[in-house]
Amino acid sequence: MKVKRFGVSIEENLLIKLDALVKKQKFPNRSQAIRFLIQEKLVEEEWDKDREVAGAIVLVYDHHKRELQKKSTTLQHDYFDLILSVQHVHLDHNNCLETIAVKGKARKLKELADKLIAIKGIKHGELVMSTAS
Ligand code: NI
Repeated sequence: MKVKRFGVSIEENLLIKLDALVKKQKFPNRSQAIRFLIQEKLVEEEWDKDREVAGAIVLVYDHHKRELQKKSTTLQHDYFDLILSVQHVHLDHNNCLETIAVKGKARKLKELADKLIAIKGIKHGELVMSTAS
C-alpha cells in the first residue's frame, strides 16, 4: 500500500504524551504510534456498528472440571459458523489455555465470548477485538 506523508499540528503537551506512549509501548517511531491509535479507533467503531470483524477468545480453565468442558464444547458447536480455529495448550498439570479464533458479526462474537467466559469454573476469559479488513 502507498504510504502518504502529512503534517500534523498538535499542542506541545499532547506531543509530550505521544512521545511517552511511544517510549512506553516501544513503538519504533511516532508514525507507528499514530497508525496504531487510528487503527484501534477504527476497530472499536467496527465492533460498535456490528460489522464483520475478527478476533480471539482466550480462556484459561482447569480441565478436571468436566461440566465446564462439556458446556464449552456445546457452545462452540452452537456457534460453529463463527469459529475459525481452536488451539488448546496444556499449561501445566491442571490448567489449559484455549485460544478460539473467531470471525463474524461483532454482536454474535461478543455473545459467544460472553457465554464462554461466564461458564462456571473459567479462571480467566477475554475477547480480543480485532478486524477482518
Ligand atoms: Ni489441556
